[in-house]
Amino acid sequence: MAEWDGATVPTIDRLVLRRWRGDDLDPWAALNTDPEVIRHLGGAPLPRADSDAIAAWHNRVNDDEGMGLLAVERRADAAFLGMCGLHHQETYPDDVEVAWRLASQHWHQGYATEAATAWLDHAFGPLGLTRVISMTDRPNAASLAVMARLGLTFDHEALVVDDGEEFDAVVHAITADEWRARRARGRGSGNLRVWRQDVRGGSA
Ligand SMILES: CC(C)(COP(=O)(O)OP(=O)(O)OC[C@H]1O[C@@H](n2cnc3c(N)ncnc32)[C@H](O)[C@@H]1OP(=O)(O)O)[C@@H](O)C(=O)NCCC(=O)NCCS
Repeated sequence: MAEWDGATVPTIDRLVLRRWRGDDLDPWAALNTDPEVIRHLGGAPLPRADSDAIAAWHNRVNDDEGMGLLAVERRADAAFLGMCGLHHQETYPDDVEVAWRLASQHWHQGYATEAATAWLDHAFGPLGLTRVISMTDRPNAASLAVMARLGLTFDHEALVVDDGEEFDAVVHAITADEWRARRARGRGSGNLRVWRQDVRGGSA
């Protein structure tokens, strides 16, 4: 298994969603110390070792479960934009959360919504999930707006633990039926062109 193989997961209109590669780690660490990015993520710059560990961990999640918070790359110029994907958030181990984090210079272009659309197609398609959640803190209007664009609706508020830190979270959710109905109406952004269903072990 080539852990840092960067194998493609889905390829959509403007983006390539793929496993982490070693050359993602510098720009990933940079965005994890950008005050704009970390404002709603506890506010403290993420130490380099922790930033690297997240990427390594999610390649392993992809090995094991076919999901993970993986790299987002722009197709036109192969720029690394940030991460998006599916994982089990520690407070909700029986649920799957869709999550996103992009470098601030790549905000306001619809990339998070497009990447998350592909991941939700994967969640409710190949992975066969019946429900996906997403959470943020209430002041994170940008993240709530992504949820709204995707059709996730308010589920509940809760005290959530993330990486050992507690925060007041707003939890949104969407079911497989709701997602399919939206997609049938042409909602969501990004048309899935390629999905390599088995990227485990870099074999796809
Ligand atoms: C959350 C986050 C990913 C949202 O980024 P974003 O750029 O606002 O969201 P999108 O990528 O979906 O872009 C939507 C915007 O692009 C615009 N847009 C431009 N071209 C577009 C296109 N082709 N398709 C869709 N939207 C487009 C939309 O109108 C919208 O504009 P607005 O931001 O002025 O309202 C970003 O703020 C972030 O990384 N924050 C830090 C990390 C974080 O808080 N993560 C969530 C933790 S819970």
